[in-house]
Amino acid sequence: MQEMNKDYLNKIICGDALTILKSLPDDIVDVGVTSPPYNKGENKKGWLVANVKYSGASDKLPEDLYQKNQTAVLNEIFRITKSGGSFFYNHKIRWERGKLLHPMDWLRKTKWVIRQEIIWDRMIAANIRGWRFWQVEERIYWLYKPKDHHLIGEELKPKHALLTSIWRFPPEKDNPHPAPFPLELPVRCIYSVMDEKKDGLVIDPYCGSGTTLVAAKILGHNFIGIDISEEYCKFAEERLKNYKNEEKFVQEEIAKHIVVKTFKDRKQKGEFTGKYGKQNHNKQEIQSFLKLF
Ligand SMILES: C[S@@+](CC[C@H](N)C(=O)[O-])C[C@H]1O[C@@H](n2cnc3c(N)ncnc32)[C@H](O)[C@@H]1O
Repeated sequence: MQEMNKDYLNKIICGDALTILKSLPDDIVDVGVTSPPYNKGENKKGWLVANVKYSGASDKLPEDLYQKNQTAVLNEIFRITKSGGSFFYNHKIRWERGKLLHPMDWLRKTKWVIRQEIIWDRMIAANIRGWRFWQVEERIYWLYKPKDHHLIGEELKPKHALLTSIWRFPPEKDNPHPAPFPLELPVRCIYSVMDEKKDGLVIDPYCGSGTTLVAAKILGHNFIGIDISEEYCKFAEERLKNYKNEEKFVQEEIAKHIVVKTFKDRKQKGEFTGKYGKQNHNKQEIQSFLKLF
């Protein structure tokens, strides 16, 4: 059998996400993480956080075209993802002239099984006005490509069990890109579904400063990054060269994926089983775990 050309491996491809995705083969990706442009419209200034402007693209499409484009992008990612693979899609609720626009409006039109809606509590509002309670959260959709017609998929390993459906960490500050997510976000997504695997293929079709790609590299996977801005593609390439500087942040996130006593252990010993919030490991346990990594 002829060996498939894998020129796309460990590359950042500069161009339009939908166009590039269409050129990639079927069933190659294990997991993806992305945060697309949100189509916020560029005139609406936030009060707290400076307006986000990308160097290579406008973020102001008619909303119906934007949603059609996102549906098409997500369906292309579905095609190139292996059965049993996952895609984590970061987005948020927006309003257009008082009408609420929810990511579910287009996610339900895609081929993906929507496995979970995760709340990302950023602990800070991007825009403070009095029309609504401060919106401090964004959403992360765990999307799943069924395997052998099973819609549910494999269970997460017990070591991820203390992570809940609310992820609480602030947005990234030390990054010149206008809208990066923090490194722990893609690390948590990738590591939770690929914990015992290496050499997988991770994609981010709107890779910006390359956060997902750095996470993939440090966790021992291959990657494909796509971004329309040459400036961000170059920045991400440089960042990847220096990925070792970011290893400690990855280790800090991984240290949260240990369960010293499982739910079953605690139940058998008659210990409290109702509280998820307190992590049961002390500093020493985390240190000894990190030595193993
Ligand atoms: C929210 S940012 C992603 C940031 C990234 N998660 C990070 O941590 O740096 C969205 C990115 O989409 C890119 N973009 C906008 N339109 C695009 C398109 N049609 N195709 C590919 N990339 C696009 C922008 O240049 C921007 O870098």
